[in-house]
Amino acid sequence: MTYQGIIHRYGHLLDLPAHSKTISLLEGNTPLIPMPRLGKDLGCELYVKFEGLNPTGSFKDRGMTAAISEAVGRGAEIVICASTGNTAASAAAYAARAGVRAIVLIPEGKVAVGKLAGAVAYGAQVIQVQGSFDDALSLVVEITQKTPIALVNSINPFRIEGQKTSAFEICDDLSSAPDWLCLPVGNAGNITSYWAGFKQYQKGLPQVLGVQAKGAAPLVLGHPVDKPETIATAIRIGRPARGEQALSTAEESNGRIIAVSDEEILSAQKILAGEGIWVEPASAAGLAGLIAETGKGSMDAKGKRVVVVCTGHGLKDPSVITESFESPKVIPATYDALIGVIE
Ligand code: F0G
Repeated sequence: MTYQGIIHRYGHLLDLPAHSKTISLLEGNTPLIPMPRLGKDLGCELYVKFEGLNPTGSFKDRGMTAAISEAVGRGAEIVICASTGNTAASAAAYAARAGVRAIVLIPEGKVAVGKLAGAVAYGAQVIQVQGSFDDALSLVVEITQKTPIALVNSINPFRIEGQKTSAFEICDDLSSAPDWLCLPVGNAGNITSYWAGFKQYQKGLPQVLGVQAKGAAPLVLGHPVDKPETIATAIRIGRPARGEQALSTAEESNGRIIAVSDEEILSAQKILAGEGIWVEPASAAGLAGLIAETGKGSMDAKGKRVVVVCTGHGLKDPSVITESFESPKVIPATYDALIGVIE
């Protein structure tokens, strides 16, 4: 039978209430791409789990199919989330699919254009908040406590259920868990989901390297960051809702949470693009972390199977690229002109 999405494929392993009504865009089933050249450089057997190939271009769709299925099944007519962009686009798309209203709150001026455009295209009401993601999250928590509007941020446990499925897919593809899993950490829903997924699937447990951006690294600093700042706007978060779970994942897995600079993130983004995989900046943080740790010799990845999770597509945030290159040359439409400019 053709592929029908993560609830169809793994629903028997997900703790979703009986009232759930499946709303799917056939998310999941993303490729685990072998990276032999880069793996050789880093001395490991490297794979990229390319989550940017989900229907709205990020891993959020796995959790959103679960959260919207539950919310719509119990009769919710409006869903809401705070977002650095990807959750907003995903919530908007799944709400559209279900025929319910979506309201999304984003930090003013800090959301990449591809994400904002997505949320608008799918018909959500987009509201910019004068403040950070953390401020927006506090607001949506408050409104969902006082009204019947359904919260679809990753505080919602069904988001975690859905996002576990990426760990299942990795185990299915490799026949076991990898030795290391490297991924970006923002609000810490995804790292929590992977760890729950690997534990449940019982195909072994990876060591987990969670990677924050230096300007938004509350879990590394050990305290909230009031004014988080990073080019990786997706993970520009100073008070992660599931921070405790991220820290216990690092501890239980004998892994760690580290921070990398924006320069390291952009360099990793370039390296991935050089292998044909264009991801948004936050999505390159996992690789940036792996490079930093292996470079310092503080991570034993030699000969090990390492999966780097690339959470969102490069098309989400094209301005990071377009702002840093010169416009392509313009030539007359003649053969001579073309030959003249080819180096
Ligand atoms: N990578 C991307 C591309 C993201 O959009 C996010 C989070 C993360 C990584 C971090 O995942 O929050 O589960 O630790 N984006 C959220 C959003 C916050 O609103 O789209 P996390």
